[in-house]
Amino acid sequence: MTDDSSDALKTPSAGQAGQAMWGGRFSDKPAELMQAINVSIGFDRRLAAQDLAGSRAHAAMLLKAGVISSEDEAGIQKGLQAIEAEMAAGSFPFREEFEDIHMNVEARLRELIGPAAGRLHTARSRNDQVALDFRLWVREACDRTQHQIKALQRALVSKAEAHADALMPGFTHLQPAQPVTFGHHLMAYVEMFGRDAARFADARARMNESPLGAAALAGSPFPIDRQMTAQALGFDRPTANSLDSVADRDFALEALAAATICAVHLSRLAEEIVIWMTPQFGFVKLSDAFTTGSSIMPQKKNPDAAELVRAKVGRMLGAFTQLAVVMKGLPLTYSKDMQEDKVPTFEAFDALELSLAAMAGMVADLTPDTARMAAAAGAGYSTATDLADWLVRELNLPFRDAHHVTGAAVKRAEQLGCDLPGLPLDELQALEPRITDGVYDVLTPAASVASRRSYGGTAPDQVRSQINRWKEILA
Ligand code: ARG
Repeated sequence: MTDDSSDALKTPSAGQAGQAMWGGRFSDKPAELMQAINVSIGFDRRLAAQDLAGSRAHAAMLLKAGVISSEDEAGIQKGLQAIEAEMAAGSFPFREEFEDIHMNVEARLRELIGPAAGRLHTARSRNDQVALDFRLWVREACDRTQHQIKALQRALVSKAEAHADALMPGFTHLQPAQPVTFGHHLMAYVEMFGRDAARFADARARMNESPLGAAALAGSPFPIDRQMTAQALGFDRPTANSLDSVADRDFALEALAAATICAVHLSRLAEEIVIWMTPQFGFVKLSDAFTTGSSIMPQKKNPDAAELVRAKVGRMLGAFTQLAVVMKGLPLTYSKDMQEDKVPTFEAFDALELSLAAMAGMVADLTPDTARMAAAAGAGYSTATDLADWLVRELNLPFRDAHHVTGAAVKRAEQLGCDLPGLPLDELQALEPRITDGVYDVLTPAASVASRRSYGGTAPDQVRSQINRWKEILA
């Protein structure tokens, strides 16, 4: 160790290996490679705020429990506050020789307030400390994500409201199926993202127990008050098993699973935007704000943001996979493997937050070409089901027979090169003599859409009532 802090960190009994906080029983320094693989400050510095919050709550509890004196506690709190200020100012010295965020904070505290710093770690271990810090971080990520999902939903709802009765083709197999409205299509994503937000809320509720006080793994002989620290840190209660508290990371896995599913939904919407933006579809336009040009083809306007959102899901799924593989087969309790929990989780949430923001921006930005969508809504004999339903309703045909007659009508329209509303009545009557010209009332896309009034259907009234429901939820 070369910097001037080394003395401050030597504990009285630390011997030659005294630069490490755990060095009491060691007589040699770790190999450089050992340090290289062991060190985590490069990434777990992102837990700094959580680590400080945990230490503050822990110190206050130790005072109340009579484990440390009020002078020591006051010194610790003051020192932690100074550290917080250093971090805010960007002057906190993050140092690799202190391995991780927990020991960096403690080392700095010792430099600032002297030996009293060593009392902060009473009745605590880095095992419950990291479990706490990481849980707090994931909890905050869940909160931020829910917030962002709501913002995206608001963007979708307001676009849907503006186009609640704009006709567009509904697809199955990416083949024209039945006409729907653009508002209805967008509201489908509002439902999906609503479930995503609920998954984060569920995960948050389940993870909201404080592991602090589990100590290394077995609990503490000190008269600690785990309710007090749990409450101070916004948890519902302390965790009930000390081994489980330091050994499990299912809260992160669950959040990553929710992140993956949310990213899958984002990816599907992104893919639709990519398809809709093609000149062949021409359903929507994005402004220059969310598109890029080509360095060689001057005519191009590429939906890069949508493509990147489409691709990002690999990161969330990758993170889930990484952490699941880290955790599988680990015997209770803590193993250093678990230090590998953070990087994938941080990266996944960074990517998710960026994707959600970009998608909210794109949704607000996109302008549908409603004339083009409406024209496409009638293509591909998309009202064939309406003809079949008419035959069932008006002529009491069994649906299977109606389906057959309609199939023949589509075939005839194809031969004549017209659409279904353009098929002359005598042609229809040649297939089923009882057909009247009342049938034309149901063959336009607008009539088809207006008729689908079942709960959750695409009739504009239904779409508007769902929009209103969501506006209340999202208010
Ligand atoms: N940096 C460690 C981690 O992230 C902190 C816990 C270390 N605990 C231990 N017993 N070595 O997992």
